[in-house]
Amino acid sequence: MPIVELPGLIDAHVHLRDPGGTHKEDFYTGTCAALHGGIVAVLDMPNNIPPLTDTSTLAEKKRRAAEKAVCDYGFFVGASTDNADAVGNLRDAVGLKMYLNESYGPLRLEQLPLLMKHFQSWPKGRPIAVHAEEHMVAVAIALGQLYGQHVHICHLSRRAEMELVRRAKERGWKVTCEVTPHHLFLSEEDQRALGALAYMKPTLGSAEDRQALWDNLDIIDVVATDHAPHTLEEKKSAQPPPGVPGLETMLPLMLTAVAEGRLSLDRLVSLTSTGPARVYGLQPQQDSRVVVDTDACYEIDASHLFTKCSWTPFQGWQVKGRVLRTYVRGTLAYEEGRILVAPGYGIQIGLY
Ligand code: NCD
Ligand code: ZN
Ligand code: ZN
Ligand code: ZN
Repeated sequence: MPIVELPGLIDAHVHLRDPGGTHKEDFYTGTCAALHGGIVAVLDMPNNIPPLTDTSTLAEKKRRAAEKAVCDYGFFVGASTDNADAVGNLRDAVGLKMYLNESYGPLRLEQLPLLMKHFQSWPKGRPIAVHAEEHMVAVAIALGQLYGQHVHICHLSRRAEMELVRRAKERGWKVTCEVTPHHLFLSEEDQRALGALAYMKPTLGSAEDRQALWDNLDIIDVVATDHAPHTLEEKKSAQPPPGVPGLETMLPLMLTAVAEGRLSLDRLVSLTSTGPARVYGLQPQQDSRVVVDTDACYEIDASHLFTKCSWTPFQGWQVKGRVLRTYVRGTLAYEEGRILVAPGYGIQIGLY
């Protein structure tokens, strides 16, 4: 039976660049890309220009999404140097995002007292999602435990980091983690061929790091794209920004891995749908689902993508598994290359 119906995917980590970077992506193009990828809801990151850190920037983002989105969506709020006291009042955010290492955007936090203040002040219940690499993974896990917070480690990419998360979970600490398709399918070697088109934070790991992610799938809660579009012109510049698009390639790549026996279809669903719903306390939508042809073999081609940046690090990859239809809350929203709902059809999820 090659035609299979799955719960719609929830992508727990995307950068739709609206506002501030709409030449790279916006709520319309980004959510069209999501539907094409079998994704029915996206959780959007706060590293916009300006960053989403207070009531007015949240209101502006809500306004833009309400006008343009074609799939459902939720928002992270960003931890800044001066919002620890107030950011917890933004009740309809799915979580707090903290940037503990250098990446794209203005939200880097450096001083330990500031990190402590955020871990102390953030209301318990909703996760603190962290961009943490290397030693900072240990710092984030320790702070979470010391302040009684649920820490979610975004885009985990190294064997040693994986070991830390395993130990924390064995102790019953409230730690969850996420990996990206690019860290599952690419490594440093691809970086050499692709150059800036394979440059992202965290950077690609060794083949051994990549294997460690597959070997530890049992403790990974979420596979999320970290869809981080930049234009080709920006990527080919002298100072290319980090980040790669991923909304439209995650499901075909993961279905290919299922076809190759690297994981089960059930595991795919738990990593991309029920897992993210559990981590962020979202109500799974019964009537949001995706119909895939698990036998369809084809080549990934950037010219078929909806993302405004119109390139992919997986150009020319041979995959097995195609999205035929995506339903959002009972409505056929995407079918065979066409978006069937109007801008603004998407609604905000994760309201408390
Ligand atoms: C992200 C972006 O471009 O917003 N870039 C990236 O390389 N992952 C930022 C981030 O997720 O760290
Ligand atoms: Zn990040
Ligand atoms: Zn990101
Ligand atoms: Zn397609």
